[in-house]
Amino acid sequence: MKIITCINEMKEWSSQTFFKDKIIGFVPTMGSLHEGHLSLIKASIAECDATVVSIFVNPSQFNPNEDFNSYPRNIELDKKILHKIGIDVLFTPTQEDLYPNKYQTFVTVEKKTNYLCGASRSGFFRGVTTIVLKLFNIINPNIAYFGEKDWQQLEVVRTMTHDLNMNISIVGKPIVRDKDGLAMSSRNGYLSEEDRSKALSLSKALELAQNLVIKGERSAENIRTEIRKVIEQKQGTEIDYISVCDPESFTEQTEIYSKVLVALAVKVGNTRLIDNRIIGNA
Ligand code: PAJ
Repeated sequence: MKIITCINEMKEWSSQTFFKDKIIGFVPTMGSLHEGHLSLIKASIAECDATVVSIFVNPSQFNPNEDFNSYPRNIELDKKILHKIGIDVLFTPTQEDLYPNKYQTFVTVEKKTNYLCGASRSGFFRGVTTIVLKLFNIINPNIAYFGEKDWQQLEVVRTMTHDLNMNISIVGKPIVRDKDGLAMSSRNGYLSEEDRSKALSLSKALELAQNLVIKGERSAENIRTEIRKVIEQKQGTEIDYISVCDPESFTEQTEIYSKVLVALAVKVGNTRLIDNRIIGNA
């Protein structure tokens, strides 16, 4: 495994003639790797000729009141994990190189980013699309892998690559969960044992939503109400949003007759968690 920190070296690696007719797979991450990240990396290794993983905790996607400073950083352990799994390049750029002093360019996807996490974390998707576009330009991959855990992020990146006519396939992979149902996240490490058991209410509420729809419930409002009940049963939880929406535009639905995205953001203690599930007919 090659470890590259310098942007120009990364560009040179990707532009080697060796890759002219080969497929480069790319998995962008903020590190503190878990099985969710590894599922994307394994997919890239299986489907591509070479795999690049980036680790960069991107400051432009955090608001001043968010956890940029305390975000878990475990670079030495991450290196060991990636070495073992057998990727080709780990790209660990520095903040100074990606955002030098006079940095002033950002890319924004409109509309879709006005909902869900975009509504409650202003500037978040602007930061995500900017860093993802920069990494795409540096690494020049053919395929990039994203998790459905961050469903809206995946859709926003898809829209960006489509709208900007980029020659990169965006592949989404299913949410990886712990045995008890909790969606894996680097932020789960913040949870105390007690918080962790409260956090299970997210996946439980989504399962309930699915079962209600299977039994014939068609009212999105009833689904939101039932989810709210499950979450509010647990003290110390604070609901940011409960959405039953179109999986691509994120507009709220009133009735469930086709496929909908049920998406949640809930603060458990001080930790903001998200989870989602596609339910209804395809
Ligand atoms: P990060 O939270 O590190 O996630 C990196 C990738 O792993 C994302 O595509 C995310 O959806 C995926 N992922 C995280 N948890 C997952 C799980 N339980 N199951 C499946 N996939 C999971 O998302 C980011 O970083 C950043 O916003 C980034 C795209 C790197 C831009 O800075």
